[in-house]
Amino acid sequence: MLYLILCFLLGFFSSSLLSLSLSLPPTHLCRPEHSSALLQFKSNLSLSISNCSQEVHIFSAHKMDSWDEDTDCCKWEGVVCDNRKGNVIGLDLSCSGLSGSLQSNSSFFSLQNLRWLNLAGNYFGNSEIPSEFGKLRSLTYLNLSDTALTGFVPHEISLLSELVSLDLGQNYLLFRDHDFNMLVHNLTKLENIVLDRMGLSLVVPYSFLNFTVSLKHLSLSYCDLQGNFPTQLFHLPFLQNIILRNNPNLIGYLPETNWSSPLSFLDVSGTRFSKGLPGSIGNLKHLKTLNLDSCVFMGSIPSALGNLTKITFLDISGNMFQGQIPDVFGNLNDLSFMDFSSNNFSGLFPSSAFNLTSLTFMDFSSNFLRGTLPNNISGLSYLRELHLYANLLSGRVPGRLFSLPSLEYLNLGFNKLNGPIDTIQEANLVQLVDLSKNEIQGTIPSSFFDLMNLTILDLSSNNLSGNIKSCMLVKLKNLRSLNLSFNHLLSLTRCSNDANSTLPMIIEFHFSSCNIQRFPSFLNASKSLQVLDLSNNQIHGSITKWEAEGWEGLATLNLSMNFITTVEEIPGKRLYVLDLHSNSLQGPLPTPPQSLAYFLISNNELVGEIPSKICNLSFFLYLTSLRTSWAELFQIVLGHLATSSQWML
Ligand SMILES: *[C@@H]1O[C@H](CO)[C@@H](O)[C@H](O)[C@H]1NC(C)=O
Ligand SMILES: *[C@@H]1O[C@H](CO)[C@@H](O)[C@H](O)[C@H]1NC(C)=O
Ligand SMILES: *[C@@H]1O[C@H](CO)[C@@H](O)[C@H](O)[C@H]1NC(C)=O
Ligand SMILES: *[C@@H]1O[C@H](CO)[C@@H](O)[C@H](O)[C@H]1NC(C)=O
Ligand SMILES: *[C@@H]1O[C@H](CO)[C@@H](O)[C@H](O)[C@H]1NC(C)=O
Ligand SMILES: *[C@@H]1O[C@H](CO)[C@@H](O)[C@H](O)[C@H]1NC(C)=O
Ligand SMILES: *[C@@H]1O[C@H](CO)[C@@H](O)[C@H](O)[C@H]1NC(C)=O
Ligand SMILES: *[C@@H]1O[C@H](CO)[C@@H](O)[C@H](O)[C@H]1NC(C)=O
Ligand SMILES: *[C@@H]1O[C@H](CO)[C@@H](O)[C@H](O)[C@H]1NC(C)=O
Ligand SMILES: *[C@@H]1O[C@H](CO)[C@@H](O)[C@H](O)[C@H]1NC(C)=O
Ligand SMILES: *[C@@H]1O[C@H](CO)[C@@H](O)[C@H](O)[C@H]1NC(C)=O
Ligand SMILES: *[C@@H]1O[C@H](CO)[C@@H](O)[C@H](O)[C@H]1NC(C)=O
Repeated sequence: MLYLILCFLLGFFSSSLLSLSLSLPPTHLCRPEHSSALLQFKSNLSLSISNCSQEVHIFSAHKMDSWDEDTDCCKWEGVVCDNRKGNVIGLDLSCSGLSGSLQSNSSFFSLQNLRWLNLAGNYFGNSEIPSEFGKLRSLTYLNLSDTALTGFVPHEISLLSELVSLDLGQNYLLFRDHDFNMLVHNLTKLENIVLDRMGLSLVVPYSFLNFTVSLKHLSLSYCDLQGNFPTQLFHLPFLQNIILRNNPNLIGYLPETNWSSPLSFLDVSGTRFSKGLPGSIGNLKHLKTLNLDSCVFMGSIPSALGNLTKITFLDISGNMFQGQIPDVFGNLNDLSFMDFSSNNFSGLFPSSAFNLTSLTFMDFSSNFLRGTLPNNISGLSYLRELHLYANLLSGRVPGRLFSLPSLEYLNLGFNKLNGPIDTIQEANLVQLVDLSKNEIQGTIPSSFFDLMNLTILDLSSNNLSGNIKSCMLVKLKNLRSLNLSFNHLLSLTRCSNDANSTLPMIIEFHFSSCNIQRFPSFLNASKSLQVLDLSNNQIHGSITKWEAEGWEGLATLNLSMNFITTVEEIPGKRLYVLDLHSNSLQGPLPTPPQSLAYFLISNNELVGEIPSKICNLSFFLYLTSLRTSWAELFQIVLGHLATSSQWML
């Protein structure tokens, strides 16, 4: 916030300067020694195209192009002067594509009137921070973030006692404990400190207690902080943002009382913060972000969460919270992201979450939540992802879920859902649906095949029954992966009138352990199909030459545990894995394609010659659990593979 104000101030200064300079005679306002100091600074750096990620700085890459001796330095881009004395007081060269080193003897450090200095997003590779920075005593704003600076931060930084905002983040910089202490102690006006991705492993967090009472913004993510974070810091009366993300050796806990009331951003994710989430959190009327992801919090969560009416981001996943989740979310109208996954929550699923009007992401996966999913969902118009994987949810699969206008990803797998899948009134554009490992009964409603943007569909391991017609299935033109395995009563038949229809994008098609009776030859034109698993079905008779045509991309074909008697030709010219074990194959073995690497044919009734071509192949023949004379065969395969032989399985 503060830097926004400062940026605004910079803008304000330069525009007031502009209006002032219009009324002045055409003499240079800039002090000549400032002008030459800046030119020397420029001459020691090279200019390249900025690759700052956060903004596109098309023009600022050439900020310094306007810097030359003939013009007033107060008019140079990025330079701000005070309008009376012509002192250079502000320098914003962030993301300007500068590279070179910061030299300690640079006359730059003679710019002792500088109040704002932003060099962020440039490249001073392998420079240390020159101790001469300590000369810039008037600095209130210093930003050196993301400049590839290295080494220890010099203790002279604590001479900058006017500093209100300091950003040294995204550098290879380290702090010595003593120097850090001095800084904390001496910078009594500091409101804003950002040291993300610096090395603070030598700093004892206890010293944070000496931060000035006016501290508003503390950002110390990815700093390798060690030891105990002082809880009292949460009491600082003006604190708004506290970001400690990813300090896996930082221990701490949240205060029971006396929270800083303006707190708006609290992120301790990826630390060893523990104990509970206190009910007093509900008093934080300004809290927008609460991220406790991947810590060691435990206990139950307070219903006061329902009082956080400003909250937009709530992530408490990956902890050991337990007990019932209070059903208090109905009023959190700004909540956009909510993740309660991977805890130990039990009791009923909090259905008020389904009333949230701004939610885009919801995840309650990997808990022990019971209950049914509400039928009349009034919110969730913006929901893109719904993850309720691995819980104990039961009942129907509400058809309304498939009408939510923004839904892209739905994962209800590994629950106890048993009701049928409701008819879908108005199919949405959902792309991934996983309802696997439930107990869903009944047929798949034909309206389900109107979900035309489905790319991944997993309905495996349920009790689905009925017959899927090929002409329905092929409506899912975007489908890449389909898994319907382990639905013992589910079958697939070809429509008579769909001569040319197919699934053009399909890559994997799993239909194992169902009730399929015919080889689904309508898929043979799917050039992208790589994996076809039809094992453990009811396919009888033969795979004809006609059925084996096409299958251009097929790499893995599993037809094991069926009742196939003959294979006139093996489908797929590029087949890599072919599993025909446990069928009723008789007669001679069909010649496999050259590409084959794994060939499983045990448990059949084959008699005949090993085709001589097999001997040129470098595949593994799996011949375990043979019905007869396997020892004999083993010997043949080992000893006589190079010549055709009589053999028998
Ligand atoms: C420092 O500058 C960078 C790049 O402009 C910006 O992203 C960052 O927010 C600034 N830090 C502060 C504290 O102003
Ligand atoms: C830095 O600039 C000064 C003055 O232009 C020049 O004398 C000096 O050689 C430069 N140093 C480097 C390393 O370019
Ligand atoms: C600064 O020091 C470097 C060597 O460290 C030298 O090459 C350069 O000329 C010096 N520049 C000035 C302005 O003294
Ligand atoms: C540009 O980005 C690359 C990698 O993201 C980095 O290595 C390089 O130092 C950057 N260059 C500058 C001039 O910032
Ligand atoms: C702290 O700041 C004061 C005032 O600028 C300064 O005199 C003093 O030397 C600083 N102390 C340290 C240890 O930097
Ligand atoms: C705060 O600073 C004072 C003076 O430097 C020091 O004596 C004290 O130990 C510091 N407190 C903490 C918690 O570091
Ligand atoms: C909370 O604040 C009250 C009043 O300022 C004070 O009496 C109490 O000791 C504080 N509690 C803690 C735990 O700091
Ligand atoms: C939520 O806020 C209301 C009104 O401010 C208050 O009455 C209620 O006790 C709070 N609930 C919780 C659980 O803190
Ligand atoms: C999770 O809760 C169950 C009871 O619901 C309990 O037996 C188990 O110990 C808990 N696990 C953890 C890691 O807290
Ligand atoms: C959710 O909204 C529905 C319909 O508006 C309402 O009947 C229900 O009480 C709400 N549930 C909660 C928990 O707020
Ligand atoms: C849905 O699929 C169509 C093509 O079948 C595509 O044009 C459209 O962008 C997709 N919509 C979404 C939201 O993915
Ligand atoms: C099927 O394809 C053949 C040739 O590929 C074409 O002659 C025929 O009209 C197509 N039939 C339909 C119903 O699209």
